[in-house]
Amino acid sequence: METLVEKIEKFASLILESENIVALTGAGMSTESGIPDFRSPDTGLWENVDPEEFASIHSYVSNTGKNLQFMLELGMTIFKAKPNMGHKALAKLQKLGKLKGILTQNIDGLHQKTRTRNIVELHGTANESKCMRCSKVFPITAMINQVLKGEAPSCESCNGLLKPNVIFYGEALESENLLRADEMIDECDLLIILGSSLIVYPVAFQPSEALSHGAKIAIINIQETHMDDHAEVVIHKKIGDVLPEIVEIVEERIN
Ligand SMILES: NC(=O)c1ccc[n+]([C@@H]2O[C@H](COP(=O)([O-])OP(=O)(O)OC[C@H]3O[C@@H](n4cnc5c(N)ncnc54)[C@H](O)[C@@H]3O)[C@@H](O)[C@H]2O)c1
Ligand SMILES: [Zn+2]
Repeated sequence: METLVEKIEKFASLILESENIVALTGAGMSTESGIPDFRSPDTGLWENVDPEEFASIHSYVSNTGKNLQFMLELGMTIFKAKPNMGHKALAKLQKLGKLKGILTQNIDGLHQKTRTRNIVELHGTANESKCMRCSKVFPITAMINQVLKGEAPSCESCNGLLKPNVIFYGEALESENLLRADEMIDECDLLIILGSSLIVYPVAFQPSEALSHGAKIAIINIQETHMDDHAEVVIHKKIGDVLPEIVEIVEERIN
């Protein structure tokens, strides 16, 4: 059994040896910023609400008012949140030339707030709204103002119903995002998985996809995942407790 120190050392060595590194981040990346994830015991969002009721496109259309109330609460938490030590460590890794880009399931925009580049938001972004009729995209603020006034959020061009520009259950992912993600997965030689249960499509398959193209995978996640046995190194700790230390070792060795 490797000790934590040995695992941290191994993680850093993998980063130093690799040339095309991609990070795959899930909701666990942002829990240390105060945004609950979906599946952590007790605190996960799905502990308190039914996903079918609140995050499916069908229920959004049929019960817009009730859904928006829940989304507004989550939205407020997201807008107040700041990047944490983990987001900052990834930004630093990119500055060191050791992170090509990020595939994220998160809709909170926190990676962007650290000025990290080349981010694919697989599940969209809570910072925008989208018209369900003409597909025009707007900043989320206009939609929030309408909701706060008790109005149904509507498109200023065509009066269609607006939705947050995130992928709901029952909706397809943007094909452009999927293509970019595929490309990054195919080209990477190390995939760093951070804070994802790897249950939701497409991240459930991306790690195996990376492996089949010859990449290595490394995981930091509190709970176990179905890919743990395939990873070079797995650390079951909080990202903020280990990633900054790993990046520090990388920085020391590079300089
Ligand atoms: N911040 C956000 O934008 C946000 C928040 C909640 C849900 N979502 C959406 O939820 C879906 C759920 O998928 P998911 O796999 O991303 O999340 P998930 O909730 O299914 O899994 C999160 C995983 O992160 C781990 N985790 C939690 N805090 C951690 C920490 N500090 N350090 C390390 N690991 C930690 C948990 O053990 C869990 O396995 C996604 O589709 C995403 O779009 C996004
Ligand atoms: Zn419209």
